[in-house]
Amino acid sequence: MPIQTTSKIWHNGNLIPWEDATLHVMSHVIHYGSSVFEGIRCYAQPHGSAVFRLPEHMQRLIDSAKIYRMELPYTLDELCAAVVDVIEANGVAPCYIRPIALRGYGEIGVSPKGSPIEVYVANFPWGKYIDGKGGADVCVSSWNRLAPNTMPALAKAGANYMNSQLIRMEAEINGYQEGIALDVNGLVSEGSGENIFVVRNGVIYTPPLANSALSGITRDSVLTLARHLGLTVIEQAFPRELLYIADEVFFSGTAAEVQPIRTIDRIVVGDGKVGEITKKIADEFFGIANGLKPDKFGWLTPVNVNAAETVPA
Ligand SMILES: Cc1ncc(COP(=O)(O)O)c(C=O)c1O
Repeated sequence: MPIQTTSKIWHNGNLIPWEDATLHVMSHVIHYGSSVFEGIRCYAQPHGSAVFRLPEHMQRLIDSAKIYRMELPYTLDELCAAVVDVIEANGVAPCYIRPIALRGYGEIGVSPKGSPIEVYVANFPWGKYIDGKGGADVCVSSWNRLAPNTMPALAKAGANYMNSQLIRMEAEINGYQEGIALDVNGLVSEGSGENIFVVRNGVIYTPPLANSALSGITRDSVLTLARHLGLTVIEQAFPRELLYIADEVFFSGTAAEVQPIRTIDRIVVGDGKVGEITKKIADEFFGIANGLKPDKFGWLTPVNVNAAETVPA
């Protein structure tokens, strides 16, 4: 689906028109993928709108930048304020928010030091990322996730998404909605843009970050909610075949939210229906995000968007 444009984009401290947020083709980022970014959702609430886990996302942006020796000229508070400002200026909620820090136009050598750092924050309406109400049909990818000490998987960097594109394109070409990547040792890692959870005999498993998985904010939310519900959840490496014999499997991610999986490589997960534990976690997650359950973990940042301009997700 083409991007739905809004009016303004935040750029280095100023709100500029959407169509002026352009880059020169010789910018460092275009040639070498030198960017770090975030994906955040702002949800509709009964009495307004709120951004889900804003400080955690912006802290991850700062962490991603630190890994790549990018000195961001903004504090955590300033970055969070930028997100609120752009949403309120555009008056568009619910929405998806895309902050990005990149190496701009300067030098063309691989060393990035002579290229200026530019920070942008855009927001726009974005609905379901994986279309699959009764569960998604996915595959195990022939592409592995990034090997340790090659591309840092804990940095949410633009360049990592070349790997994600290979996984996602292969899945779609073969008629699946998403691909699950194994790590360099053949253990389950994550989806092209989601973390993964497996339920077997009432216990929830998810790969640890050492299996080249991104430190997902939704993953952390699921871990927190599961423990709060009194469920047993273990961060543990596991082999591909556990996916096939699991009772329940689901993805977590800002774009995909909590997304049940119905089949993997055409093998039906459990009885093919959305599982009880997946349902319980999804109910808590969407309940808090949509303001229908108390925000007991302090995950919501309210934004002041005129309800009349709220667009459906
Ligand atoms: C590769 C990858 N893994 C996991 C996730 C889930 O992370 P989060 O829950 O922070 O969106 C994403 C999405 O950002 C991703 O791109």
